[in-house]
Amino acid sequence: MRTKIVKEYTNGEITVRWKPDECIHATTCFKMLPEVFKPAERPWVKINAASTEKIIETVEACPTDALTWWYNDSNRKTEKKYFKMAENKEKAQVKIFENGPMHIHANVDVVDANGKILKVNEDKYICRCGHSKNKPFCDGSHMTAGFKG
Ligand code: SF4
Ligand code: FES
Repeated sequence: MRTKIVKEYTNGEITVRWKPDECIHATTCFKMLPEVFKPAERPWVKINAASTEKIIETVEACPTDALTWWYNDSNRKTEKKYFKMAENKEKAQVKIFENGPMHIHANVDVVDANGKILKVNEDKYICRCGHSKNKPFCDGSHMTAGFKG
């Protein structure tokens, strides 16, 4: 089993975690805050290039769990990402990303062929291109594969 890569960046006040396996390259972060999220550079997150508030707003807008954040001071409450479905109050939806994954927004579990539960009641991005190394979930490989559909 391959080790999952996790990168963390801190400005002293908050820490931002990036999990590349869950990044679907939806481009939300670098469109919203290009001074911080620079995919062509290493490290690609310039954590000191914007205010904490703006970084939090952008991390919250990431459509997957690829970007998450928390306050370094454990006495400060870190709100959960807004898109999480705590309860099944919303209408279920399946959305196809152009040239990308299928987004399932519903209170359902993803179960593999052996009956193992892979994800419970969370937003899920299912690979449509066949190139993900984290199947059945999208890992952003559709971008490098040049998937069209
Ligand atoms: S999935 Fe999240 S981390 Fe990846 S590009 Fe989109 S907003 Fe950025
Ligand atoms: S659709 Fe994203 S990796 Fe296949």
